[in-house]
This record gives sequence, C-alpha cells and structure tokens, in this order.
Amino acid sequence: MPFHLVRHFTLTSLLFFLAAGGALGYYYRDMTLSRMLQQQESGNIDLTKVFANSLWQRHFSSLLEESRGKNPQELKNNSHLREIHADVVALMRGSSAYKIKVYDPAGRTIYSSELTQIGEDKSANPGFIGAINGKTQTELVHKAKFSAFEQVVENRDLIQSYIPQYAPDGSTPAGVFEIYSDATPFMAELRRAEIQLGLIVSGALSLLFGALYLIVRRAQSIIRQQSNEKLHTQQHLAQSEKMASLGQLVAGVTHQLNTPIGFSHNNVSLAISCLKELTTPLMVAARLCELVQRLPPERGQITLNLGKSREALKKLSFRGDELNDLTLMLGDVLSGLEQMRELVANLRDFTRLDRSKVVDADLNAALKNVIYIARSSIPTSIQIFEEFGQLPKVACNPSQLNQVFLNLITNAAQAISGDGRVVVRTVANGSEIIIEVSDTGSGISPDVLPRIFESFYTTKPRGIGTGLGLSIARDIVENHGGGISVSSQPGQGTTFRITLPLQAPDTVLAL
Ligand SMILES: Nc1ncnc2c1ncn2[C@@H]1O[C@H](COP(=O)(O)OP(=O)(O)O)[C@@H](O)[C@H]1O
Ligand SMILES: [Mg+2]
Repeated sequence: MPFHLVRHFTLTSLLFFLAAGGALGYYYRDMTLSRMLQQQESGNIDLTKVFANSLWQRHFSSLLEESRGKNPQELKNNSHLREIHADVVALMRGSSAYKIKVYDPAGRTIYSSELTQIGEDKSANPGFIGAINGKTQTELVHKAKFSAFEQVVENRDLIQSYIPQYAPDGSTPAGVFEIYSDATPFMAELRRAEIQLGLIVSGALSLLFGALYLIVRRAQSIIRQQSNEKLHTQQHLAQSEKMASLGQLVAGVTHQLNTPIGFSHNNVSLAISCLKELTTPLMVAARLCELVQRLPPERGQITLNLGKSREALKKLSFRGDELNDLTLMLGDVLSGLEQMRELVANLRDFTRLDRSKVVDADLNAALKNVIYIARSSIPTSIQIFEEFGQLPKVACNPSQLNQVFLNLITNAAQAISGDGRVVVRTVANGSEIIIEVSDTGSGISPDVLPRIFESFYTTKPRGIGTGLGLSIARDIVENHGGGISVSSQPGQGTTFRITLPLQAPDTVLAL
C-alpha cells in the first residue's frame, strides 16, 4: 500500500497548527485579561482610597451609624443623602468609576450612586461575602444595559470590585465599597490586539506550514522516485532470474529432445536403405503390371523371353517381413515426433503467456505444465507427484506465478541428492487457495532459514544458484495479495506453502 506522505502531513499538521494557534490565542487572551483585571483591581483600590479618604470620614461612617436599625424605606429617606450624592457625583465625574455602592456589615446597601438601589440586601452576594471577610473581589462583567446617573449605557464591559473598608481603628471591615469602572475602551483595544495577534500567528503558522509542505512534497517525490527505481530493479532482477532458470530449462529440454531425435534419425535412415532394396523388385513388379495391362482382352497368355535377365532376376529376393519392419520403424518415428510435439506445446504454454497480464487461470494446469517442463532437467531418480485438489479459476498473472512454481520445484529437486520425492499439492480454502511444494531433501538449517528470502543469498555453487529465486517469488506472491512461508526439518525435507487470494489486487500489474 503506497504511503501518501503529503496527505498525511497536510492532515496532521493542519490539525496540529489549528490546535497550536487556538492554544496560543487562548493563553494570550487569558493572560492579558487576568493582567488587566489585576491592574484594574489595583486601580479600583486606589479609587476607593480616594473616595474613602474624602467621603468615609465626612459621610459614610456617620451614614453607617445612622443606618443601624433602619428599614430600606427609611434608608432611602435619609436627609443627608442628597448632600452625599452631590459629593459622590462630583468626585466620580472625570474618573473611570461608573457606579459606587456602600454596604454595611450586614450586606444592606446604605448608599448607591443609583439611588433606587439603596436599601437592597446584598448579604448573599459572593462578592460582598468575600469583601466583608477582608478579601478584595474583582470580576469582569458585560452589561447590555447599565443605567448610571441619568443616562442608559448600552453594551459596556465593566470591572466590578468589592473592596473591604476599615474604620481607622478597626481590624474587621466596617463596611464594603463596590465600584464599577468602565473597561469598554480597553476591551475594544484588546479585541483589536487579539485580531492582530491572530493574523500574525496564522501568518507565521502558514509560512511555517508552507515551508514544511514544500519539504514534504520534495521528500514524497524522492520517495516515489526511489520506489520506482526499486521496482525497476526488481523487474530487472526478476527478468535475469527468469533468464537463468530458462537457461537451465533449455539444457534439460535439449536433452529431452535428443532421444526422440536420435532414434527417429536412425529409423528414418534404416527406412531409406530398406526402401532402396525394395526399388528393383518394385520396378520389376511394376513392369509386369504394365505388360499385363497392355495385353488385348482376348489374349489370356503372355510369353516372357527372359534371356540374359534370368540370372539378374535370380538375385532379386523379397521377404514380406521387410515391409513390417518398415511400418514399425516409421511408427516409432511417429511416436518420437509426438513426444517432441508435446514438449514443444508445453514449452510454448510455459513461455507464451504475456507479461503484466492478469487472466483467470487454472493453476492446476499451470502447475502441470511447469512440472512437465521442469522434469526435463530433473534426474529420473526424483519422483514428482501431483496431489491436486479442485481449484476455482484464480485472477493472476500466470507467467509470474509459473516463475515462482518453477523456482520452488527446482529448489526442491536441487535439495535432493539421489532418490527422493517432490510433492506438489493444491487446495482451495474459502476465498484463497493454497499451493504446497514439499521435498524429501536436505532441509534447511536454522542459521540459513532466516536468510533464504534475501536477494542474492544462495548456498549453491556459482552457475547453479543466483540467490534470487525466493526473493522474487516472495515479491510476486505478495504483489498478488498472498503470502509464502516455509517449514523445514534439516535432514528430512522442506515444505514451501503459498497462499493466494482468488482475486489478485491491482498491484499485481507492477512486476
Ligand atoms: N527446498 C529447499 N530445500 C533446501 N534448501 C532450500 C530449498 N529452497 C531454497 N533453499 C535454500 O534457499 C536458498 C535460496 O534459494 P533461492 O532464492 O531460490 O536461490 P537459489 O536457488 O538460486 O540458491 C538456496 O540457496 C537454498 O540454500
Ligand atoms: Mg532457486
């Protein structure tokens, strides 16, 4: 399965860059916001100090005293409120403060710059609770409508702080100040900065991505080129291995052809000399026939004047069994020709199959053919048995598979010295078929076994082994979507097992 480097890189790095961009943006925003809140909090504390300094002693401490035990309505009706409010508004003008509230330790609103809120109970508010326990509480709030003084404020970002307020001699808060200050301009700036940052980060990430993409694409093209070269080398090796095994085959086949050619040649020479001996008697017989035919119908007798010919005719002898011999000799020639024709037909079947062609093939027939051909170069002391099961047609490249079968059978025979047996077995098993080649040969020792599928690994002498057979066999079988395995008992024999799917994948065209 080819690995699509560019596609993988694009998907994973896009995900990664998106995550990194998101995390960076989130971190920046979080950091800026908390820094802003801190700043604003200390600003609010300063502001509160200003308010406290000028208003606490003058108004709020006495207001706190006066408020004790009063109900909300009485709080609102306090006669000092007008004067306090005028001072507060004067102080707030020109500052970032939007609203100011003062709570007594019980959480009641004793003053608010929004006068209608005076008297409200805030004792359950977490901000108030925190502040009355001595801790300043700050949060950013967004208010769609905020009525401050006279006007209505739409969509403001506000910083809200609850700040404990201590009497000059007190150790526990005497009350709580609440201040809202406006952060809208700052937030707008923050958003602008966010967009800018987003643009810078995405620009930088895009550049980085672009550079990496170019590198990866280059790498992909180098990998593709290398795999093409590898394929080319494999094809080349497959071809040379084929030539080497064909060379051995040719030697065997030549030997196989020699016997029928030899006796046919002898028989035909004998037949010719036999025919020569028959020439004279046949000519005499033919002459006699001619004489008889020329005789007028009313004459029933002819007289032969043999004269000098009598002596010559005495020498003519014709034994009938000569014709029998002739027929037998020519019959042998015919069976010799038949053998040669069968061999040639098998050779043609073995070689004519197109390269790179996938067809529905009968692998039993292909194996039969390979065994027939291989027999010519295998000593007669080695018996080859066919144990073929019923096989469906297999979509494959038979020419490539023939090369595999030939190599396994040749290897098996080469592993046997003296007498031995090679068994070729086929079985259909669900959606795959199994082909086994077993031999009673030398077996493979455990230190050799792991290396037998390596290219150029051979234990055979030069000229006999190329060391390519099994490595090519494995490439071919794997290209067909199958597998090849081996089990061997040193001294007992070896079995190679090939499994093939009924339908070869597209990769089968490559080799
Ligand atoms: N049936 C077998 N019995 C014993 N050894 C084998 C057999 N088949 C293969 N081998 C070992 O595997 C090696 C590699 O085989 P192969 O790739 O076909 O190359 P070659 O036949 O040219 O040596 C052989 O040299 C041999 O040592
Ligand atoms: Mg071999």
